[in-house]
Amino acid sequence: MATKTENNTSSTAAASKNNTAKTAASNTNPDSNMDQNMKNSSLHKFFVDALKDIYYAEDAIVDALQKMQDAATTEELKDAFEDHQLQTKKHVSRLEKVFKLIGETPEKKECKAIVGIIQEGEEIIKSTEEGSMTRDAALIIAAQKVEHYEIATYGGLAQLAITMGHEKAADLLEKTLQEEEETDLLLTDIAEMSINFDAEQED
Ligand SMILES: [Fe+2]
Ligand SMILES: [Fe+2]
Repeated sequence: MATKTENNTSSTAAASKNNTAKTAASNTNPDSNMDQNMKNSSLHKFFVDALKDIYYAEDAIVDALQKMQDAATTEELKDAFEDHQLQTKKHVSRLEKVFKLIGETPEKKECKAIVGIIQEGEEIIKSTEEGSMTRDAALIIAAQKVEHYEIATYGGLAQLAITMGHEKAADLLEKTLQEEEETDLLLTDIAEMSINFDAEQED
């Protein structure tokens, strides 16, 4: 028994240095026990920066979806934008929870990509006729560009959260990812059901 303990102690000591980086990942409650070393790592800083970027983006998307909802021609598309606006408000509050889970304060950082994508949507509203199906066909593509930006971001951040041992944060990011993917598919369905065909019939 004594020998066994001694062997285990020496092997534990030898492995402890190598396992330092894995501590958070193997911890049963990693979100609340993250050590200072991890918080100072380049990857953690990048992760927090990326969260600030998508936090800014989600907030901007809430306003953009309102404009798109007001501009859309069909009730079906208006409803889809309205539903996703409600989901987007949840995405904002989920991100606030993610910040807290990793011991950071929610903060926004301008996301130039989403500013550009939203601007493109506003140009579409200006350049298409009110009440036309062409406007809806174009708005769907603009909205899908937003969704794809979000899908890329949440897909990557959820994976990073898993790698860094932030399991609860990863679950929240994955939940949002799933809603973005469902919205993207719904928009494709709406376009293909009738809007694209009706737009094609317009002068
Ligand atoms: Fe979102
Ligand atoms: Fe979205």
